[in-house]
Amino acid sequence: MKVVRDFLLSANVELTPRFSLLTFQGELPEGIRPGQFAQVRIDDSPTTFLRRPISINYADRDTGTLRLLVRRAGDGTNHLCDMEPGSSVNMMLPLGNGFRLPDQEGSRPLLVGGGVGVAPLMMLGKELAGKGIRPTFLLAARTADELLLLDEFRGIGDVLTATDDGSSGEKGFAHQHSALSGSGPWSIIYCCGPAPMMKGVAAAAKKAGVACEVSLENMMACGLGACLCCVEKTVRGNVCVCTEGPVFNINDLTW
Ligand SMILES: Cc1cc2nc3c(=O)[nH]c(=O)nc-3n(C[C@H](O)[C@H](O)[C@H](O)COP(=O)(O)OP(=O)(O)OC[C@H]3O[C@@H](n4cnc5c(N)ncnc54)[C@H](O)[C@@H]3O)c2cc1C
Ligand code: FES
Repeated sequence: MKVVRDFLLSANVELTPRFSLLTFQGELPEGIRPGQFAQVRIDDSPTTFLRRPISINYADRDTGTLRLLVRRAGDGTNHLCDMEPGSSVNMMLPLGNGFRLPDQEGSRPLLVGGGVGVAPLMMLGKELAGKGIRPTFLLAARTADELLLLDEFRGIGDVLTATDDGSSGEKGFAHQHSALSGSGPWSIIYCCGPAPMMKGVAAAAKKAGVACEVSLENMMACGLGACLCCVEKTVRGNVCVCTEGPVFNINDLTW
């Protein structure tokens, strides 16, 4: 069930100068799925009129804990990253469809994230681990310093890395990593990150005949399917990413 309510910012940790991890407390609705997002209202930012879509990094209804991983991209996200604990933030959530989890225990999922695209993979990895499925993460960033939440990812599954400058793991982009060459052991690949990276991962998955889901980050305004500004062309025609996505099976996309 979708709700619109205030959440209390309980912690704001600057992971790097560009990325902050925000932890909120509040009453969470039932049934939040990995890959869903929140529309966050940015108060007191005169240039930010619309809510901003941010992936749910982690949500635990029992403790009322909600986490967002935020990259400074402009005024709205700068404002969020600068907020002091104790502030109240209004959010509409959960929105979108979320990733489809495999049900077989023997599954070998590969979770590929680039930059702030690692955000939804944390909750996805935790849910997979909770089902007895050990995920492998392939995390990519510009430099080793920008590989986010590595220890937490390592606590859930196996972690491979790729960096633009080769300071951690393989040098190059995520889709060029050797984990994606050939068919590999993967039963499914989940991916979130910059569009060129996701297209590269989708191409590798198609070539290997492995199922693949990607989470798109099209520009959004309403987040509710009303303004049509997030439309993506699919094999079924044009659809709103905010309601039909943000997660798509690559076979449904026209990439
Ligand atoms: C489903 C989804 C999940 C996302 N998850 C995260 C996340 O977990 N963490 C995170 O930091 N960012 C996430 N983003 C991106 C985030 O929404 C944008 O960076 C943010 O809206 C930029 O707002 P701004 O005011 O800071 O910058 P602006 O000055 O408004 O814009 C800066 C840049 O961000 C892009 N942008 C602006 N508004 C939007 C918008 N409404 N939707 C998409 N892109 C936009 C623009 O292309 C521009 O290049 C997600 C986007 C989507 C669609
Ligand atoms: S953001 Fe308005 S229709 Fe998707």
